[in-house]
Amino acid sequence: MNRKPLLYRPRRLRRLEALRGLIRETRLSTDQLVAPLFVRSGKRVKAAIPSMPGQFQLSVDQLVAECQDLSRRGIPAVLLFGLSDRKDEQGRGAYAKDGIIQQAVSAIKAAVPNLLVVTDVCLCAYTTHGHCGIIRTRQKVKGKSQKGKKTSVATSAGEADFWIDNDATLELLAKTAVSHAAAGADLVAPSDMMDGNVGAIRAALDASGFEQLPIMAYTAKYASAFYGPFRQAVESAPQFGDRRSYQMDPANAEEALREAQLDIDQGADILMVKPALAYLDVIRRLKEAFPYPIAAFNVSGEYAMVKAAASRGWLAERPIWWECLLGMKRAGADLLITYWAKEAAKFLREE
Ligand code: PBG
Ligand code: ZN
Repeated sequence: MNRKPLLYRPRRLRRLEALRGLIRETRLSTDQLVAPLFVRSGKRVKAAIPSMPGQFQLSVDQLVAECQDLSRRGIPAVLLFGLSDRKDEQGRGAYAKDGIIQQAVSAIKAAVPNLLVVTDVCLCAYTTHGHCGIIRTRQKVKGKSQKGKKTSVATSAGEADFWIDNDATLELLAKTAVSHAAAGADLVAPSDMMDGNVGAIRAALDASGFEQLPIMAYTAKYASAFYGPFRQAVESAPQFGDRRSYQMDPANAEEALREAQLDIDQGADILMVKPALAYLDVIRRLKEAFPYPIAAFNVSGEYAMVKAAASRGWLAERPIWWECLLGMKRAGADLLITYWAKEAAKFLREE
């Protein structure tokens, strides 16, 4: 058979690993990984999280030990989520001077000063109702939540029966961020999705002398079922209703561009997309539209899916998360927030 010669053969550069390495476009590196950690009260507590194998609720002493290990492995930053024993309607545990996060941050900064401590700024783990802001009700519907904790809204409340008071919540978020900063946080990350959150936090930080502290905005945080395992981990599932009146509709990407513009105008330093895997297009669009660092949050459900399949022998865990993290970077993410951070650091060292 007479064939035209192939001028370009892509396989030429695929033949050897050394050749593939020469032209590789995307690389993962440990210095752009952030490890999320869960902190709770108590001593010597390391409680496994059933829906997230390999992840734990840690008391402060255990948390510090984990941070030392992560830092030794070259992980530059941790993102802290707190579990609160005291929940109330105002989420006071979030901005209490001796709150769980405030204690954790100062303990980590004392023991591992070079590790960056990023804090999640939100109320949902500290409110009885589990919402990210202050609840107002149309009619006072009295009820009890599933766990028997009193709330002012019945668990059966529909979305017209209550709403989140955006601007009242902003004040509490700002207080929370300032209290994290005072405890020694290096970066604050508001995940509440209230309008104006970045500006309110920026102003409060500046007024308290923390003008050097950067904000990582949860710019495009979607109302996602991928947060399920996380809500079990920090016991923050809403006791009624859902988060669709404040988190983004998974169907929208242009809206993410508007959110990004707002966050930038309010002083955001880093823009985040969350979840990551179902939203790689959003990562790419933000990266192309705005010259800002982009963070991808590889969330709990993305982790749990792979763990579950791997435990059945249906998928090979390491190659799967590697490919997922590469995909996020290739899409345009700069930093990766991932529960595989430690595994990735180990693997990158061996490679
Ligand atoms: C709370 C918060 C959530 C996550 C981070 N901060 C859950 C939610 O909004 O319900 C999700 C993290 C994950 O799933 O890994 N505002
Ligand atoms: Zn929240």
